[in-house]
Amino acid sequence: MRKLIIANWKMHYGPVKAGGWVRAFRRERLPKDLDVSIAVPDVSLAAARASLGRATIPALAAQDAFWEAEGAFTGETSPTMLNEFGVVMCLVGHSERRKYLGETDEMVAKKAVALQRAGISPVICVGETDADKKRGATMKVIRVQVSSAISNLKPDGHAQPLFAYEPVWAIGSGKPCRPDDARDVHTAMREIFAKKWGPKWTHEIRILYGGSVDARNIAEYVSTTGIDGALVGGASLDPRGFGLLCRAALPA
Ligand code: 13P
Repeated sequence: MRKLIIANWKMHYGPVKAGGWVRAFRRERLPKDLDVSIAVPDVSLAAARASLGRATIPALAAQDAFWEAEGAFTGETSPTMLNEFGVVMCLVGHSERRKYLGETDEMVAKKAVALQRAGISPVICVGETDADKKRGATMKVIRVQVSSAISNLKPDGHAQPLFAYEPVWAIGSGKPCRPDDARDVHTAMREIFAKKWGPKWTHEIRILYGGSVDARNIAEYVSTTGIDGALVGGASLDPRGFGLLCRAALPA
């Protein structure tokens, strides 16, 4: 399976800076066997699209979407609206949205279904908090989050779901999860896929790791069996630094 790295800019870069980032990043040399995507703020989708032109790399992604296609939902953006920008993937259930916006597993599940229906691959983010980890509840928390998210989801089709395992304690902390520990969580997630969709799907669904990934440690994750790539926050903000990270992921 091809490895995938997604830049999650989070709440950085309005249209002006987003356009500049994309133009700068397009000058970076990228490994040809690597898939690369950028998850940009909604207000910057048009500028990012314009700077990408016809280029499909990096693929355009969004950071969130609502579960209805249209209606009286002030402030929300629907998957069908994201389609107009050529968005191919969209994050859902990022821990920052769970923490600051009160997103629940039920909301995450509804968003994932709506995205898939619109032809956009949901990138479902799951992860335990520091407190969960300390009380030994990591696997339990992950199982609940994953099972709920996939309850009404199909594993196939052109909008195949993806997952990102992002331990909350590793995000922005400079303390990444050890690749072997991440792999163990990914294995537990794959068991849930197999149970729900059949054994054929065990290794068909991409699971990325996220949390303090940088150019120095990316290769360890990408070279670990069962880790299909990375979701990168802080280390994606500089286009040249992110180019370096992509090259470090799959050294020539
Ligand atoms: P950092 O790479 O800044 O730790 O953020 C990870 C993340 O939350 C990506 O979605």
